[in-house]
Amino acid sequence: ATTLRAAADAIGKDIGVAVDVNKLQNNAQYRNTIATEFNSLTAENAMKWDATEPQDGNYTFSQADTLVNFAEDNGQSVHGHTFVWHAQTPSWVQGLNATAMRTAMVDHINTVANRYEGRVDSWDVVNEVVSDNNGAMRDSFWLRTMGEGFITTAFQTARAADPNADLYINDYSIEGDNAKSDTIYRIAQGLKSQNILDGVGFQSHLILGQVPSTMEANLQRFVDLGLKVRITELDIRLNTPADANELAQQAEDYRRVTEICAELADCSGITVWGLRDNDSWVPGTFPGTGAALLFFEDYAKKPAYTAVLNAL
Ligand code: XIL
Repeated sequence: ATTLRAAADAIGKDIGVAVDVNKLQNNAQYRNTIATEFNSLTAENAMKWDATEPQDGNYTFSQADTLVNFAEDNGQSVHGHTFVWHAQTPSWVQGLNATAMRTAMVDHINTVANRYEGRVDSWDVVNEVVSDNNGAMRDSFWLRTMGEGFITTAFQTARAADPNADLYINDYSIEGDNAKSDTIYRIAQGLKSQNILDGVGFQSHLILGQVPSTMEANLQRFVDLGLKVRITELDIRLNTPADANELAQQAEDYRRVTEICAELADCSGITVWGLRDNDSWVPGTFPGTGAALLFFEDYAKKPAYTAVLNAL
């Protein structure tokens, strides 16, 4: 194959990219590369709550519609991101009491899921609900106001709203076997037993040379529960600027992650969290680091691109 898309199609997997809808609208080369190289799209921001329902009951779908229409025009699937998260959720939601917050959540999920029913194939229903502290639940406004049941409510609502969409729980630092992934495992077991969970999303915001040695076995234990797994937000950052050795190590890290998904029949695919290094959220969030993706700023393919292509 000569494109990621053709290689992924050939093994029946998704190769996805997080899309900046403004660039999709304004930059032809960005648009063409996304159409050529990927068979799955995720909105980097355009389907988050602050984008889709900035005020109570006032839904704004123009950016999300642009992305879904583009995917449809180009024969691409869409992995939806995300209904319930502690970030990028408007303050009007955060200040509600338990009853009103539940109502707002149910209304939001129903409205967004129904709008894209049959066009969005899968959803990150809840995002980042576990903390980094010994696998405790994250201390968010959702947990404080609604209690742990907020997760079940979200999945029950999403299942009823679009029974054909695959429903995922999504988080970071759960790629390896650790306290946080143990908690995700327990939550996933409970949701799966109620038949309201289909998969686990492993964000995989990784650091150069640090693909967890337990990653394959960890994904396998979720597959053994009868769930799909998915690499949902892959990037591999390093201290910038990158030298040739670092780009080679990065290619090896991308190769390994791709191999893990390719070898697992129940790994639905890989989404990289942005197109070019300069499109990435990484430099803004982890200062001094970057160069985390598959394309250089001029759209030239990095060694990591070739590694993914060959591992698919
Ligand atoms: C990031 C986007 O890439 C940025 O553009 C935005 O400013 C903040 O959010 N985990 C997630 C994603 O689930 O939604 C985040 O995306 C990155 C971390």
